[in-house]
Amino acid sequence: MLDSPPAAQYTASMPNLIRAFIAIELPPEVIHALAATIKSLQPKVPATALRWTALKNLHLTLRFLGESSPQALQQVSQQAGLLASAAGPFELDSGGLGVFPNLRQPRIVWAGLTLPAALIQLQNDLEIKTQRCGYAAERKPFTPHLTLARVRDGASHSELSQLSQTIQAYVPQPPVHFTVSQLTLFRSDLKPEGPVYTRLAVFPFAAAGDTSTTTA
Ligand code: 2AM
Repeated sequence: MLDSPPAAQYTASMPNLIRAFIAIELPPEVIHALAATIKSLQPKVPATALRWTALKNLHLTLRFLGESSPQALQQVSQQAGLLASAAGPFELDSGGLGVFPNLRQPRIVWAGLTLPAALIQLQNDLEIKTQRCGYAAERKPFTPHLTLARVRDGASHSELSQLSQTIQAYVPQPPVHFTVSQLTLFRSDLKPEGPVYTRLAVFPFAAAGDTSTTTA
């Protein structure tokens, strides 16, 4: 029996909680391509309709952890480290544009990514391990995406339809190919000017070809 409840069940009002998530960071060439995409979209959609993601904040989230105790983060870090040390590097390609949840009521503008078996496996394993650390199951299915912008609450109907038309008319840029070779645990601090993400830990994968290690 634990002396205290599992850390993930604490509420946000308790002290010392850290809002955190595990993500794949993007190399400069991908950020560069996404910056060009954002730049080409910005003149076509009113600035009053969208909040664009700061380039330094672009990443692929694998597991949002929410408000976590330091102890829970330590446990998750240990598990993420084990998973990473058993994983081999894999390749991803950046893809086209889309919106969540749909073009009639867009809330999030995203850039897509390929979904190789290695990414599915890694995300799935991470989900299992985080649940074993006391976190509630993620309810939404994993849809790898890079959030480029969020629709502002006050966006008008005509702004939304302008956005949808822009996304539909977008001519996809050549995909950018990159290698994923580590996971990162980020802290997220929500500020009025936007979230601030701080790297808390990095979990490198096993060297290419060395995937012989197994997790505990
Ligand atoms: P998003 O870009 O699709 O919003 C930090 O907030 C990261 O965690 C973001 O990449 C965000 O994804 C992701 N995330 C996933 N679920 C979340 C949630 N319930 N609340 C906040 N962020 C979440």
